[in-house]
Amino acid sequence: MTDTRRLYVKSYGCQMNVYDSHRMADAMAREGFAEVQAPEDADLLILNTCHIREKAAEKVYSELGRVRLLKRKAEAEGRRMLVAVAGCVAQAEGEEILRRAPVVDLVVGPQSIHRLPALVARAAGGEAVVDTEFPPEDKFDHLAAPSRQATRVRGVAAFVTVQEGCDKFCTFCVVPYTRGNEVSRPMEKIVEEAERLADAGVREITLIGQNVNAYHGIDREGRSASLADLLWRLADIDGVERLRYTTSHPRDMTDELIAAHRELGKLMPYLHLPVQAGSDRVLAAMNRQHGRDEYLAIIERVRAARPDIALTSDFIVGFPGETDEDFADTLDIVARAGFATAYSFKYSPRPGTPAAAMEQVPEAAKRERLAQLQALIEQQWQAFNTACVGRSFDVLFEKPGKYDGQIAGRSPYLQQVQVTAPAEMIGEIARVEIVRAGANSLFGELASPAARRSGIAAAVAMEGA
Ligand code: SAH
Ligand code: SF4
Ligand code: F3S
Repeated sequence: MTDTRRLYVKSYGCQMNVYDSHRMADAMAREGFAEVQAPEDADLLILNTCHIREKAAEKVYSELGRVRLLKRKAEAEGRRMLVAVAGCVAQAEGEEILRRAPVVDLVVGPQSIHRLPALVARAAGGEAVVDTEFPPEDKFDHLAAPSRQATRVRGVAAFVTVQEGCDKFCTFCVVPYTRGNEVSRPMEKIVEEAERLADAGVREITLIGQNVNAYHGIDREGRSASLADLLWRLADIDGVERLRYTTSHPRDMTDELIAAHRELGKLMPYLHLPVQAGSDRVLAAMNRQHGRDEYLAIIERVRAARPDIALTSDFIVGFPGETDEDFADTLDIVARAGFATAYSFKYSPRPGTPAAAMEQVPEAAKRERLAQLQALIEQQWQAFNTACVGRSFDVLFEKPGKYDGQIAGRSPYLQQVQVTAPAEMIGEIARVEIVRAGANSLFGELASPAARRSGIAAAVAMEGA
């Protein structure tokens, strides 16, 4: 009989939730819990939920219906299964979850996950536990560091949360309510975490935050540090070969951050910069605090700094009051910007947000606009990928590929690239010549040494351009 217990965590929503799920697993590892892939085996099952769009809460309740059956089965086998709901639905719904789903033993909000071990202990004692406080202490100071082994299992590319919460209050969005005020972690804490990751074999780090470019931490001397400062500092760490950051807000795209895209070799040529809509009227009603021309001017400056940058964005169609003309402006801004890809969503009224009380666009119009926008985005994605054929660039290999003998990695532009190469190359960066663009990934061949040299020459020429 061993006393290792089993933990199953399912993550929904954004990368911050993925990060939090890892931190919860790390905290519970110290308590003797090992992560498993099968929910039915779990002694502790955590749903880390997202509230960003409609029916998120409803989806959680129907998932909890399935969990109830698993819990019953465990009980029939004489095992106890504790069920926890974490994340943004936990924050928004709180005790309501216990009322509607008695299968749940524990509700924990995103800012309280560092208290998870104590909360689980209380729940195991039979208490129904809800913790959705925004505690005054910083959760990051109390979170367990990942073990080397956990880091290895999670792969060579890792996320690090550097900033959390949001003070911008776009009228459609729940994040300021579920994650609270904007808070930045001190630079040295992030550096320590990145050093540990690099030491365990991580080669690529993506800095994450709801408004990551609003990062304003402090450096070792207590001076204020921006995201650009942080990126430069992290680039000094041996072993960290690639840096990315997401998600950015156009308002916080500073000159020094744009300059980093020109000057900092480890910063990948990729920028996710959501604009949401192309009409000034809609942007104002959304409280985005910038207009369409400002957005277009920002991406022009970014492209001047890094001509090959892959730009991506998010869009909402059918925001309250959006007319056909407004939507035409959205199609127009997409056509002008030329994105590598973009994510688009139908506007979904969120309880408690200002836009939920405004006059709504009929569902049929939302559906039609979404289809039109997605067709245009799909064209741009195909064009971007096709333009990569015949080019060579560095790929960080992350995992076995789709077919035997292949491995898969990421291009600098974040595309998936499949290559026939030995599995030992996973974790390495190698130059690859792209030979074909598929529907979802690129296919390439390891470049010959000569091609590698000319590829490097081309890259140097481009950087000098
Ligand atoms: N902080 C980021 C966005 C975080 S939410 C920013 O300001 O751009 C991720 C995406 O979800 C948003 O960019 C938006 O496109 C979408 N989204 C957020 N709330 C939504 C809602 N109520 N309905 C539809 N899409 C929404
Ligand atoms: Fe939500 Fe707007 Fe904040 Fe982004 S900037 S998280 S969309 S409120
Ligand atoms: Fe969803 Fe919360 Fe992230 S609502 S998108 S999990 S911040």
